[in-house]
Amino acid sequence: MNETIDTPGTPALEATGITKTFFTTDPPAQVLNGIDLAVGVGEFVAIMGASGSGKSTLLYAISGMDRPTEGTVLIDGVELTSLSDVEMAKVRLHTMGFIFQQAHLLANLNIGDNVLLPALKADPDNAEAAHKRVRGLLERFAIDHVAHHATTEVSGGQLQRAAICRAMAAEPSIIFADEPTGALNSAMSAEVMDSLTELNRDGTSLVMVTHSGACASRADRVIYLRDGLVVDEIALGKWTPEAAQDRELTISSWLAGQGF
Ligand SMILES: Nc1ncnc2c1ncn2[C@@H]1O[C@H](COP(=O)(O)OP(=O)(O)OP(=O)(O)O)[C@@H](O)[C@H]1O
Ligand SMILES: [Mg+2]
Repeated sequence: MNETIDTPGTPALEATGITKTFFTTDPPAQVLNGIDLAVGVGEFVAIMGASGSGKSTLLYAISGMDRPTEGTVLIDGVELTSLSDVEMAKVRLHTMGFIFQQAHLLANLNIGDNVLLPALKADPDNAEAAHKRVRGLLERFAIDHVAHHATTEVSGGQLQRAAICRAMAAEPSIIFADEPTGALNSAMSAEVMDSLTELNRDGTSLVMVTHSGACASRADRVIYLRDGLVVDEIALGKWTPEAAQDRELTISSWLAGQGF
C-alpha cells in the first residue's frame, strides 16, 4: 500500500478557539468570538458573511498576517502562534501565498519581474529554477505574452492573474485570498476564478473570502460568519463546469436563508 503523510483529511490548516479583540478602540472591539476552522490538504474553503462580520480579520488571524488574541493555528503541523515575527515571515514566504482585492504589484517592475521577485527570494541559490518556475506560471495562467508589459499596460483580469502567479511563485501549500475578484467585472472575475479553481485542482489548498455567491460556488465548502462566529456551512464537493449552474443556485438559496 502506498502510504503518504498528506492523506485527504489531514488538515493543511487547523485553527482552534480563535478570538480577536482590537484594544485600539474604546470600548475594545471584540471581532472574533471563538472560531474553529480546519482546512484539509487540497481543500478549497470559501468564507462569506455580511460586511463587518469578521471575514478579513479571520483570514489575517489564521494566516499569520496578524495574530489572534486567543487560540492556536497549525499550518502544515507548525504552530504559527508560537513563532517570532521573523520565524513567521519565513513560514509565510515558503508555505503560504496571499491574494488581495487589489493586485498590489510593484509599479517599477514589469509583470514577469513582479512574479520573479518572490520566486528568487524564496530560493535565492537557484535562480535558474526560479526563472523556469516563473515562465511556467505565466504560461499556465495565460499571461506569458504580457510578461514584459508594465503593470499599467494589462487588463484588470491579467493583473489579478499576475497576483495569483506571484502568490504561487514560492510553491506554497496554501493560498489565502481576500475578495480576489472584488474589483473585477463579471467576465474578468470568471477568468480569475478559473485560475484559482485550477490551482486548487492541482493540489494547493485555498481559503477565500468573497461577497460573491458565484465565486463561493467554486469552493468545496462554504462557511458563513455572523458577528465573529461561524454560524453555518455547506459542503459542495469539487467544482466541475457541468455542475456550475446548479451549485450557483444552491449557494444563492443557502445565502438567502442566511439573510445575506
Ligand atoms: N484594526 C482594527 N481596529 C479596530 N477595529 C477593527 C480593525 N480591523 C477591523 N475592525 C473591525 O472589525 C470588524 C470586522 O472587520 P473585518 O474587516 O474583518 O470585516 P469583513 O467581514 O472583512 O467586512 P468586509 O466585507 O466589509 O470586508 C469591523 O467592525 C471592523 O470595523
Ligand atoms: Mg473584508
